[in-house]
Amino acid sequence: MENSNSYGLIDLDRYPINDLAGEAGQRLIEETQAALQQDGSCSMPGFIRPSVIAKMAVEAGTLRHLAYLGPTEVTPYFFNYDLGKGNKLPVDHPLKRKGKRKLSQVAADLIPEHHLLSRLYYSTVLTSFLAKALDRPVYRNQDKYQSLNISMMNAGGCQQWHFDSGHMVTTLLLQAPEAGGVFEYVPELRSDESENFEQVQQVLDGDSKGIKHLALKAGTLSLFRGHYSMHRVTEVTGDRMRIQAILGFSTKPCLHGNLESSILHYGPRVAELEGVEL
Ligand SMILES: [Fe+2]
Repeated sequence: MENSNSYGLIDLDRYPINDLAGEAGQRLIEETQAALQQDGSCSMPGFIRPSVIAKMAVEAGTLRHLAYLGPTEVTPYFFNYDLGKGNKLPVDHPLKRKGKRKLSQVAADLIPEHHLLSRLYYSTVLTSFLAKALDRPVYRNQDKYQSLNISMMNAGGCQQWHFDSGHMVTTLLLQAPEAGGVFEYVPELRSDESENFEQVQQVLDGDSKGIKHLALKAGTLSLFRGHYSMHRVTEVTGDRMRIQAILGFSTKPCLHGNLESSILHYGPRVAELEGVEL
């Protein structure tokens, strides 16, 4: 399915990822790296051309009946149950705190190959750009369900404060809601050395100090170090659905996700397809 061009999807005048050796291409790499270094994130507004992003949103909208509402109350650590194992923790400890999550996701196996979003995901120029920006080889996630997802939030939709399991997440906003649905994050809140539960708890308790916002518009591609920076999406208001694509890339060549997680997030049909009894 891999393709060598991006079919005119990307604004290459603004983001010349097809010519990374050129002066403008090198500048783009430097700016991307500087943003990731300083802030743990990099937003590229207008990455996808406006006429294209509108078509991508329409195509994604045709899949809304296939989107599965996953767990609606989860801790900031999702699946990482082992963190709290064996500890007698107070009820307000971050490992025990469940926040409201209300979003539906379309799994990768349900997104048609001919959709513009698939063409973008499988274009080699995008993978090459990310590899240059991260200064290491980058591969597409190989998981049948988790590689490419579309997240949908109607009014009331939101995602609780959490850390991602993967080190880098690449997202593309396909359609912004009328209001709300703001992406908020606290940069580098934890590290490999420390979970920093104390400050995590302060954020969960409502301390807004240190919280940053990403102003996302339809067509913005974002790179985000979500493993270290806790983040959430505030509640969506209004009739227009917030639609976001999550493009799975990894520095590991053959990354497959956890099947239990896929069943949880994409529904019992995954268990049926994989022959797992629930
Ligand atoms: Fe996340």
